[in-house]
Amino acid sequence: MEYRIDVQPLGKQFLYGGEDDLLTALHDAGIDVESVCGGMGSCGKCRIHILEGKASDPTPQEGDLLSREQLAHGERFACQVYPQGDLSIYIPASSLTSQQKLQLDSQLEVSDTAPAVYSRDLEVEIPTTPGDPGSDLFRVEDALRTAAPGVEVRRVDLLGLRDIPKLLRENGGKVAALLRGEELLGLAPAGETPLGLAVDLGSTKVALFLYDLSQGIMLASRGFLNPQIAHGEDIVTRIQYAIEGNAPRLMQVVVEGINAALSEMLAETGHTRRAVCEMVLVGNTAMHHLFLGLPVEQLGKSPYLPATDLPLEVKARELGLELNPAAVVYMPPPIAGYVGSDHLAALAAARLWDNPGPCLLLDIGTNTEVALKVGDTIRSCSCASGPAFEGGGLSQGMRAGEGAIEGVSIDAGGKLELAVIGNAPPEGICGSGILGAMAALVAAEIVDASGRILEGVSGVERRDGELVFYLSPPGSDGSSGVAVTQNDIREIQKAKGAIRAGIDALLAEAGLGHDELREIILAGAFGTYIDPAAALSISLLPPVTLDRIKQVGNAAGAGARSMLLSTAMRSESEEAAGRIEYLELSSYPTLSTLFAADMYLSEKAVLEAKQRFKL
Ligand code: FES
Repeated sequence: MEYRIDVQPLGKQFLYGGEDDLLTALHDAGIDVESVCGGMGSCGKCRIHILEGKASDPTPQEGDLLSREQLAHGERFACQVYPQGDLSIYIPASSLTSQQKLQLDSQLEVSDTAPAVYSRDLEVEIPTTPGDPGSDLFRVEDALRTAAPGVEVRRVDLLGLRDIPKLLRENGGKVAALLRGEELLGLAPAGETPLGLAVDLGSTKVALFLYDLSQGIMLASRGFLNPQIAHGEDIVTRIQYAIEGNAPRLMQVVVEGINAALSEMLAETGHTRRAVCEMVLVGNTAMHHLFLGLPVEQLGKSPYLPATDLPLEVKARELGLELNPAAVVYMPPPIAGYVGSDHLAALAAARLWDNPGPCLLLDIGTNTEVALKVGDTIRSCSCASGPAFEGGGLSQGMRAGEGAIEGVSIDAGGKLELAVIGNAPPEGICGSGILGAMAALVAAEIVDASGRILEGVSGVERRDGELVFYLSPPGSDGSSGVAVTQNDIREIQKAKGAIRAGIDALLAEAGLGHDELREIILAGAFGTYIDPAAALSISLLPPVTLDRIKQVGNAAGAGARSMLLSTAMRSESEEAAGRIEYLELSSYPTLSTLFAADMYLSEKAVLEAKQRFKL
C-alpha cells in the first residue's frame, strides 16, 4: 500500500510505501529535516504539523514535550509518526536544515521564456574591392533579412554602431546580431548568447540573478546588503539624506554594488559584460526613484506622490551600469508612493490576477505591502510595520544570521526549546524568532493577550527595572543572555497591529469576511521563515486554517526574473498596475481604532476590542 505525502511549504510530493517513520521517509525523499536525537523523540527538532490525513497516534515521548493543545492542532515529531493514509504536512523553517532553507529562496518558477533581447547569427559578406557602395550596416540588415525573415530593424544604438565595422572584420563577417524589439543593439562574435540581469533592489538587501536569455537558464545569483544602509536604516531617513543634497551618493553606492556583484558573476561564469544586454530592476518607490536620480522629496510628505507611475526603459550607460554599452534597463511601474514595482513583481510571480480568490498576498518588511484580490479587483495598501520583524528596535534584535534565535517553543511542562541559526550559542533574536517567542509566551500564559509580561510567573525577571523573560540565561562568564523584554513585545505589537489593520481595512473595503479568504500568500524573506501557526496564534494574520497559507519566498525577485524572461509578463504586469486600486491607509477613517484593536495578541481579544470600539 502506497500513500502520497504532500510536503509544504516546499511544494514537494512523494510516495510513502515502506514501514519507516516519517522522518526517515522525508530524508529518503531528499528533504533534510533536523534530527538532533537521531529519531529518539527526545529533541523535538523534527517538529511538523499534520494538515490533513491519518497517522499513528502520538507516542509518550511526544506527550512529554507537546501540550494537548499542540497535539490537537496536529503538531507532531516526524520521527514518531507513521502515515496511515495520504498525508499533507507542513514543515516549519525551524525544523529544516540550512541547506533546505536555501531551497526556499523562491518557489515561484519562471515558466514562460520570450525575452525582449535575442540574437541571430549572421554571415555578412565583406567586400574587398571597390564597386559596392553598400554600408556595413546595410549589409548587416541584408544578412538579417535572410537569417531572420520578419525581423525589422528601425533603430540602431549609436555605441553599438561604432563597433560594427571592427567586429565584422575581426570575425570575418561571422557575427551575431544583438536585437531588442526593432532596435539593433550591436554585434558580437557568432554564437555569443545574450545575457540578462534581474535585480530586486530592496531597502535592506539587493538580490541579483544572471540569466542566459536564449535558454532561460539562471547562470548565477548574488545578494548583498544595500550599501545605502550606511546612510539610514529606514526609507524616511534616506529620503531626508537625499534631500540634504546626497541623492547622487545614494544612487552611486547602489550602482557600484550592482557592478561589483555582476563582475563576480561574470568571472564565475566566464562571460564578458558585453554579453549582458538587458536588466530588469524592481524595488520600492523610494529605491526606484533614488536609483534613477528622480526627486524623492514629494515621497516623504502627504499625499506621498511618485514622480512617475509609468514603466521606463533607460540605457544602462546613462545610469553608470557596466553592462553592454547599448543595454537597456527595464523598470516596471511603481503603483504609489509606498507601493513599488517590487509589489507588482510579487503579484506577477504569484500570478495573483489569475488566482480565483478571494486571496491576500503579503510582503512583510519595514513597509509591508498587502494586496487583496476579490473577483477581478486587486486592492493594495502599504502598512508602516517598522523594522521589528527584521530584528530592528528590539533590545537584542539581529538579522537572521548565525547565533540568531529563529524559533522558540515552550512545552506543556514549561520546558523551553530554542532553534538557533547555525546551531551556535544564542546571541540575539531575529524576526521569525521573536514571532515564535511571542506565540509561545502567550500560549504558556507568561504574556497576556494585551501584551503584558506577567510578573511572578516562572521565568519572568526584572532587568534594569524592566520585566523580561530570558530565552537564554546570562552566563557565569558575564555574558548577558538573550531576553524578550516588555518593550520588545510592544514593538512587535505595533508591527503586527499595523499589518493586521491594513489587512482589515482592505477586507472592509471589499466587504469581505475573514472566513471567505481562500488563500494567504506570504512573500519575502520574513514571510518565508515565519511559522504560520505562530502568526495565526498571535493574530498577525486573520483566522484561516493553516492549509490556506502558502509561503513563496522572494516573490519580488521571482517577478523580476519573470519579467526579464518574458515580454508577455511585462505587458500583463503593466496592464494590472493600471487597474490596481490603491488604498491610502494614512487617511483611512478608522485606521487608528483598527490598529489599537489589532495590537491584541489573540483573535478572541482582537474581536472583543473591535466590539468595544464599535468597529
Ligand atoms: S529527531 Fe529528535 S524528536 Fe524527532
